[in-house]
Amino acid sequence: MNAFTYRDGMLHAEDVAVAELAERYDTPLFVYSRNHLLAQLGALTAAFAAVKPLVCYSVKTNSNGAVIKTFAEGGAGADVVSGGELWRARRAGVPAERVVFAGVGKTADEIEFALKEGIRFFTVESEPELARISDVARRIGATGRVALRVNPDVDPQTHKYISTGKKENKFGLDLARAEQAYEMAARLPNLEVVGLHMHIGSQILTSHPFVEAVRKIAPLCQTLKRAHPAFRCLDIGGGIGIQYKPEQHALEPVVVARELVPLLQPLGLEIVMEPGRYLVGNAGVLVARVQYVKDSPFKKFVIVDAAMNDLIRPSLYQAHHEICAVRETSARVHGDVVGPICESGDFLAQDRELPEMRQGDLLAVLSAGAYGFAMSSSYNSRPRAAEVMVNGKDHTLIRRRETWEDLVAHETI
Ligand SMILES: Cc1ncc(COP(=O)(O)O)c(C=O)c1O
Repeated sequence: MNAFTYRDGMLHAEDVAVAELAERYDTPLFVYSRNHLLAQLGALTAAFAAVKPLVCYSVKTNSNGAVIKTFAEGGAGADVVSGGELWRARRAGVPAERVVFAGVGKTADEIEFALKEGIRFFTVESEPELARISDVARRIGATGRVALRVNPDVDPQTHKYISTGKKENKFGLDLARAEQAYEMAARLPNLEVVGLHMHIGSQILTSHPFVEAVRKIAPLCQTLKRAHPAFRCLDIGGGIGIQYKPEQHALEPVVVARELVPLLQPLGLEIVMEPGRYLVGNAGVLVARVQYVKDSPFKKFVIVDAAMNDLIRPSLYQAHHEICAVRETSARVHGDVVGPICESGDFLAQDRELPEMRQGDLLAVLSAGAYGFAMSSSYNSRPRAAEVMVNGKDHTLIRRRETWEDLVAHETI
């Protein structure tokens, strides 16, 4: 599904004109399509139906409560990486038994909170973390269910900052150590070791790295299943890539499923998935208004009211986001789209063919639903943008624009 299309020359989000949203809620503005979110969840679940996966939406991708709630209503659980994300997921109505908790640095307080909530399992990244979960669980008289995160050492062929399953990355345990750690975990009090976990990276555009990783992990799953009756689950993480550039091909879940399901089915395990970007990336756009057009002798700069504090992906990963004029035009110019922040790295598009725009025009930065608002900040004392959810003809403000008062709300002079 593509929820963002032109109708009568104006960009729409589902049935609502984006210009109307900008008028009503001002800019910069994140706009999400509820039906796009649900369509993505449906497509993923249908593709993997043969292994009946529990889809745990990766909350870090877009942690707005309305987004989490939409997925929870669609039957998804949540993949969280902090006490704050767990709290958000529970607040948005995700049942605790559908929450999995990842991350290399869980604190004792976070572990205690998760144990008290009764989450499905922790994905554990090191031996000291196993010992800590066991200690906390013993202290409060709980049982910690854990799945060991394995680092299968495969190259996901993605940006190095979002590659997580190679041996030089900080995540998980290598395969040889994982078996020993499993034995250690099985002996620790107040722990139930229920499975293995992997997450090899993000924005992966071919199924090969997933296939290679599952092939590497499958023998260990079989060994552990024979040795430990509690072993029942394999969490294959997230990572399915989306289309950012027109010439790029998204990785369709049916394509991955065609190759993975025959490897997963014989394992006879409960399968958990942790998609993020695939579910929300193309369900959101960032709408901005042109403030100035500056023609320097070298370049044209389209200066807008959104910046790297709203969407850091271009600055951080040199990520490409398509730029669309909200009022359709075939006129093209060459240049950069930049924000007002005092950094040369503050750009949303660089050296690109762009729709021609004038002062006051609206533009939309596409594919901004994932790692957009969630990674935003108030750098340069810029209040964070508002977020709106569209559902057919309806639209709801799901996070109000921050104010200058909000900027200093936690400060004491
Ligand atoms: C453990 C874990 N699971 C899932 C995800 C979601 O990845 P993606 O958005 O690529 O699906 C991430 C992303 O960093 C992650 O670290």
